[in-house]
Amino acid sequence: MADSAVKLIAKIIDGKKFAEGLRASVAKDVADLKSNHDLTPGLAVVLVGDDAASQVYVRNKGEQTKAAGMNSFTFRLPDDASEDELLARVEELNNDAAVHGILVQLPLPTHMNADKVINAINPAKDVDGFHVINSGLLATGQDGMVPCTPLGCVMLIKDVLGNDLSGKRALVLGRSNIVGKPMAQLLLRENCTVTIAHSRTVDLADECKRADILVAAVGQAQMVKANWVKPGACVIDVGMNRIPAPERGTGKTRLVGDVDFEIVKNVAGSITPVPGGVGPMTIAVLLASTVRAAKRIHEID
Ligand code: GUN
Repeated sequence: MADSAVKLIAKIIDGKKFAEGLRASVAKDVADLKSNHDLTPGLAVVLVGDDAASQVYVRNKGEQTKAAGMNSFTFRLPDDASEDELLARVEELNNDAAVHGILVQLPLPTHMNADKVINAINPAKDVDGFHVINSGLLATGQDGMVPCTPLGCVMLIKDVLGNDLSGKRALVLGRSNIVGKPMAQLLLRENCTVTIAHSRTVDLADECKRADILVAAVGQAQMVKANWVKPGACVIDVGMNRIPAPERGTGKTRLVGDVDFEIVKNVAGSITPVPGGVGPMTIAVLLASTVRAAKRIHEID
């Protein structure tokens, strides 16, 4: 067969495996902190309301926190709790010496101002890295708490491309405060040439096709097609979208990313699957960030 007829399949980036390794290293750090400093890191997660997906995330966070040997504190407030009640809970956690990381699960009910709540968290305990102080530190190249999902993406990118990302063209599809904007900042910190594309971007497919690193975080099921991707590019899919899956039975759904995986894997050099790519990284990085917060608070190297 002529070379040109050989179909290349991208390296499938195994985020689940990488996350397992990271969690094991966190567990070791926790054991060292306990034996050498008599310190057990603690993570508090606050969930308001009964959003089904958030319930699952929060339960997983609690279980994995304990599995790493840390203290896990979960607080549930009813959907109709007032913003003041939530702010009071955050203030208690800010003042609780056993708590080193605070995460308020988003989205919050619409009667609450998420920015106000996030900015009430002590920035040193803001393991999400969403507080304006931490986003400002990241934007100005200073040391702060960094959002977990984008940091996990950088770890996966470096695992396949190596630690030096200098000069690579990176395109971030999506401009959310949770993923898109911090992702762009982190890639800039790695000396990439960064473009942020979004719903108003002109010639979106052409912009994407120039990227050596393409990070999709728009929340649109299977939006990124094969002809949007530069051959050999590293494609990171942050999307988690449920689509109907009638082949699995009436009313069934399945999880897909923002990238049309089955066709893009024939063009990309490496690609994260959904599920099993970026998803498992988020909690593993959250655990690592909690250990980091505990060390910073106690001034341990
Ligand atoms: N909801 C979806 N992703 C996240 C996240 O990374 N942090 C918080 N706090 N809420 C979320």
